[in-house]
Amino acid sequence: MPDFDFESRIIDIPDYPEPGVVFKDITPLFDDAEALAAVVDHIASHFANRGVTKVVGAEARGFLVGVPVAYKLGCGFVPARKPGKLPREVYSQSYALEYGTDELQIHKDALVHDDRVLVVDDLIATGGTAVACAQLVEQAGATLEGFSFILELAFLHAREVVAREFDQEMFTLV
Ligand code: PRP
Ligand code: ADE
Repeated sequence: MPDFDFESRIIDIPDYPEPGVVFKDITPLFDDAEALAAVVDHIASHFANRGVTKVVGAEARGFLVGVPVAYKLGCGFVPARKPGKLPREVYSQSYALEYGTDELQIHKDALVHDDRVLVVDDLIATGGTAVACAQLVEQAGATLEGFSFILELAFLHAREVVAREFDQEMFTLV
């Protein structure tokens, strides 16, 4: 697959949403047909032939990446949503934020024991969201195949955080 310059399509927004934070705006990778196809094709081709049966993506930007990747892999997509958004029985997993905690949920019947799951998101920062998604996969008794992100904020060392609990591959485009 030809190289694609993903990095030049990610815009740094200083001091957003608060002073000191450099926000990585990935929307230019989605509003351009060629870039969108490159994102989806690169991730899906990396995880092709790995037996992935479900993609789990975290609300909300994980949906942007996860649904087309699942379609391309020919498998299903499972939304990991904020509390109170899913109408039926759920598994819940809380995770630490910089201040306080948050929680993600999946429907209890969304994954089965035979599923091999790819956790997908746009970006990994502290790793809290990714670990929570992987823990939801564990709660459901399914098998975690790996993690995929467009980019990681390397200075936050989420790779080490995730690796403390999960030895599956973490793939990034950038
Ligand atoms: C962002 C991003 C990841 C998460 C990464 O989502 O899309 O899901 O933060 O951060 P972490 O590695 O420190 O957990 P956010 O919670 O801002 O929600 P959004 O997708 O609805 O914007
Ligand atoms: N999620 C957590 N940190 C982020 C950042 N710096 N840019 C975009 N999304 C984020």
